[in-house]
Amino acid sequence: MSNEENFTSYRPQWRTGIGFLFAAIGSAVGLGNIWRFPYIAYKNGGGAFLIPYLVALITAGIPILMLEFALGHQKRASAPKAFSLISRKWEWVGWWSVIFIMFGIMAYYTVVIGWCFNYLCFSFAQSWGSDPNTYFFNDFLHTSSGVWDITALNPIILAAVALIWFINWAITYQGLENGIERAVKFMMPVLFVITAIIVVWSVFLEGAGEGIRLYLTPDFSKIANVDVWVAAYGQIFFSLSLGFGIMIAYASYLPKGANILKSSIIVACTNSFYEMFAGFGVFAVLGYMAFKQNIPIQETVTSGIGLAFVAYPKAISMLPFGTIFGILFFFLLCIAGISSSISIIEAFTAALNDKFALPRNKMITWLCILGFAESILFTTDAGLYWLDIVDHFINHYGLISVGILEAVIVGWLYKTDTLKAHILKQLGESGTRHRAVSKAILQVWVICIRYITPAALGIAIINSLITEFSKPYEGYPVSGIIVLGVGWLLVTHVAAVLVSGLPWKRNR
Ligand code: PHE
Repeated sequence: MSNEENFTSYRPQWRTGIGFLFAAIGSAVGLGNIWRFPYIAYKNGGGAFLIPYLVALITAGIPILMLEFALGHQKRASAPKAFSLISRKWEWVGWWSVIFIMFGIMAYYTVVIGWCFNYLCFSFAQSWGSDPNTYFFNDFLHTSSGVWDITALNPIILAAVALIWFINWAITYQGLENGIERAVKFMMPVLFVITAIIVVWSVFLEGAGEGIRLYLTPDFSKIANVDVWVAAYGQIFFSLSLGFGIMIAYASYLPKGANILKSSIIVACTNSFYEMFAGFGVFAVLGYMAFKQNIPIQETVTSGIGLAFVAYPKAISMLPFGTIFGILFFFLLCIAGISSSISIIEAFTAALNDKFALPRNKMITWLCILGFAESILFTTDAGLYWLDIVDHFINHYGLISVGILEAVIVGWLYKTDTLKAHILKQLGESGTRHRAVSKAILQVWVICIRYITPAALGIAIINSLITEFSKPYEGYPVSGIIVLGVGWLLVTHVAAVLVSGLPWKRNR
């Protein structure tokens, strides 16, 4: 089928190029950039981590992003349709990614944004008091004794999660241009400005220098370790929203002649720059805390949940004008989270629309209701454990498997040359001047997609499996790991195979 025939009228289009870039960056820049990157960098060699990180960015991050953009654009299709156009046999890969993201990552990601909203409200009175750790785990989450110890739902969290789903619904319901594009055009500049305020504020605090030194001090002995390289690839993948089916759907809304090459480089570099920059703020605040409490800074360092909901509240209580700092910080997390979560709803909606031709608005309403219902599972007193297990398995196996499949299917079965030709053709006249450079970049791209990316991701997955079998993840009971971790992946996989077997309501 030619491109012209594929250009069907039901597919919306970005109003502006910058709207598309903001949306893609909005999806990439999320909680992972703010609370995950700084810690991963510190733990894996500080300044020296930049080496594996940049290698991962160049050999997998940019290539897979470019692959997803090019595939979505060339086929004018969501992930399942794009793969089905390569071969009906591979349609399930597209479904698998959008299903485990929509009913996996999305279910708990919205709960974490809900916590951020709760903490945004708590910031006004600094309700966490003098012991944010006890406050978070006991008073706020009421964390139970284990995975299967579920006694109650948490009404405050439930209310916040309902609000987050409502916001997601309200944005995506308005459509691509009036909903997502308009929202990100407002959210992204706000996000950048608040981040800049927080980082500049943080680096001028007493003790900040010590924190930043710890963040950047290179430990070159670490980069001989495979785990460090695996961490770099994992971070790049999650952070750039690769293997989610999102970038494929977003690129399918681009007009003809879009510069895929430039867009991939802009999105990938902005995302990486953002996370490195955020790291300065995070470590500066930790340095300040260590200074104030007169403790070694290493003791203050933590990541993820511990960083945002324990370390930061503690610092906020110590800071002059801490209330304002707290409000800004949690507002920032909410925006970063929402601009990512809307992209998942869009990727899933695009997939359903492509295959089943369902009315968009109804579909979005039902998806948000179903998604909210599923999020409730993570708002119980065992929610934290559930979230941790599902997150671990989806990130270490789901996303990476989809990445390998994408690289192998496109690199070997579909042939990268077809996509390469598409990218070059899009450059048109405007690209003539840079044609030689573009061609050289694309040559490297082909090598990455065919050899380096699958090999690197393959090593990452094998390495994770070895660790998995040596001891259950975080010492959770095996039943929890099997049901929530492996089970989640298997069930979504079966669902993907079933859905891909259903007949197409629209022309492929
Ligand atoms: N890139 C996002 C992040 O860093 C990951 C993500 C994307 C999560 C979309 C949810 C939805 O947080």
